[in-house]
Amino acid sequence: MDSALDFHSLRALLEWQVELGADEAIGDVPVNRYEVQAKAPQVVALTGGPAAKVAPVAATGGGAVAAARKAAEGAGDLEELRAALAAYEHCDLKRGARNLVFSDGVPGARVMIIGEAPGREEDRAGRPFVGRAGQFLDRMLGAIGLSRAENVYITNVMPWRPPQNADPKPDEIEMMRPFVERHVALAKPDILILMGNTSCQTVLGKQGITRLRGQWDEAWGTPAMPMLHPAYLLRMPGAKRAAWADLLAVQARLHEGGA
Ligand code: URA
Repeated sequence: MDSALDFHSLRALLEWQVELGADEAIGDVPVNRYEVQAKAPQVVALTGGPAAKVAPVAATGGGAVAAARKAAEGAGDLEELRAALAAYEHCDLKRGARNLVFSDGVPGARVMIIGEAPGREEDRAGRPFVGRAGQFLDRMLGAIGLSRAENVYITNVMPWRPPQNADPKPDEIEMMRPFVERHVALAKPDILILMGNTSCQTVLGKQGITRLRGQWDEAWGTPAMPMLHPAYLLRMPGAKRAAWADLLAVQARLHEGGA
């Protein structure tokens, strides 16, 4: 393969092949695996050069989480938190992402939404929820008089796109939790909306969104409403009735004013 291709071209080629269904790696010529000497595989970066030397999370263990906590706690406002995330080097997802996806909407709004992770469009735009699920989210919010232009602040657990939109791994979630906690502390919303399992896992330490949804919980002293993720609702339109009930619960709490 032409090593002059940059990372993003190589990834686009790879994604194109995966979309075509080529999800198994085979070579041009057959290899007799019984005759291949056992030797440690050489890790090669997608740019064609040797992989950047990064301490794997397993080796750093709690070090990556401790570093995240230190960086997050040192941020005195949202811009400093964005900078702290941009400088955080322990999460491998960063190396495959085009952009840091930090937030969108109105900082300090009464409602803060925490989603899962950027997809392809978000990675390109550097903003959360701008793809199909995001457009649907905008319609959901509009139905109860909310919008990111006026009165909602939006972020994700993961600020970098996972390859093939895979679910973030437990160690990646552990690394991001201190940043998410600090993000909530600095944005000071009255209400959190937790979109989907990854968000509930990170913020509440709980899984099982179909059981959790619609039940008010609390995260770091802030009322939190777990909801079905808009991407799930696009796949399962029958679940929209439940999401509507949860939106109404959010609206009622906002109108109570005491949230
Ligand atoms: N899904 C998410 O959870 N977040 C995004 O930003 C986009 C899709």
